[in-house]
Amino acid sequence: MVLLFGASGYIGRAFSEELAARKVAYVPVSRSGLDYSNFRVVYDFVKKIGPELVINAAGFIGRPNVDQCELKKTKTIEGNLLFPEVLSHICQLLEIPLGQVSSGCIYSGYKTENGAIKGFTEEDVPNFSFDSLPCSFYSGIKALAEERVAVNAYSYLWRIRAPFDEVDCDRNYLSKLQRYAKVVDCINSLSHRGDFVKACLDLWQKRAPYGKYNISNVGYIRNSELVGLMQRKLKIQKTFEYFADEESFYKEAKAPRSSCVLDVGKLHQAGVRIRSVEEAVDESLHNWKPEHVIRAEVCVV
Ligand SMILES: NC(=O)c1ccc[n+]([C@@H]2O[C@H](COP(=O)([O-])OP(=O)(O)OC[C@H]3O[C@@H](n4cnc5c(N)ncnc54)[C@H](OP(=O)(O)O)[C@@H]3O)[C@@H](O)[C@H]2O)c1
Repeated sequence: MVLLFGASGYIGRAFSEELAARKVAYVPVSRSGLDYSNFRVVYDFVKKIGPELVINAAGFIGRPNVDQCELKKTKTIEGNLLFPEVLSHICQLLEIPLGQVSSGCIYSGYKTENGAIKGFTEEDVPNFSFDSLPCSFYSGIKALAEERVAVNAYSYLWRIRAPFDEVDCDRNYLSKLQRYAKVVDCINSLSHRGDFVKACLDLWQKRAPYGKYNISNVGYIRNSELVGLMQRKLKIQKTFEYFADEESFYKEAKAPRSSCVLDVGKLHQAGVRIRSVEEAVDESLHNWKPEHVIRAEVCVV
């Protein structure tokens, strides 16, 4: 039995589907049914269920984008720091493994070795955090939450980066790129939503060592490359405009933004394979479900 906090969310729904596909029983948890701010209430609930694993996919990410976290600081702190820390303490006390969904957004840029681009590893200290300014409020809180949860020796910190798949929606990175008035041409690691949750559950089912794991598809991709692929494969007519450079984009955005490259060597060493970003993007665009089609399908049902 798995307890899944935040089951109603973008990432939580992918966990629900994958748990069901693996025939792993799970209990979805929502704030409407449990007071997350009350230690005793959450402790008693987790203890009563006695799960083999607690997944925390709950959090406040801001809508329509992360700028909202600059304005709604209380929600950002409650959802992304206080609750993960409380839940982690509870899991530690009860000796129940915890999988906390974290984020690659705590890094900015990439490293280089002999001129080649290299991703940040789990050993690298976050460089887009309160201890390494500038950072967005959201990223600073996520980096701090990692520190707090990492104290729990039975915890996984699963870092996702710019999730996407074939389902067109406001959370999908490929959809976001299509809708931006202007695109910044940076390189990024990305996480296919289904690949991400599969890798998380593989780590747990393989009993991989606890700790931090970067979970993005292998490699990185440039936004202009993604735009070109989408124009060709989805027959998008729109002419995309680009910021002159990354600095001009960062000047216009309210919250500081980052793009980053992650290294997934640790995930592979743990025996969990994840396909390349090119392969995952290609398949997503091949199976692309535009939002109007999804809405129509929902209407038929
Ligand atoms: N999507 C991304 O681009 C992205 C990128 C990197 C990392 N992440 C991380 O992935 C996790 C899940 O994000 P998501 O994209 O699935 O977000 P989401 O779609 O907004 O879902 C999160 C769920 O958390 C619950 N929630 C909302 N506000 C909360 C709060 N203040 N306190 C506690 N729970 C709250 C809600 O469920 P109920 O209303 O049912 O309780 C919501 O459905 C978060 O930790 C986020 O930081 C997401």
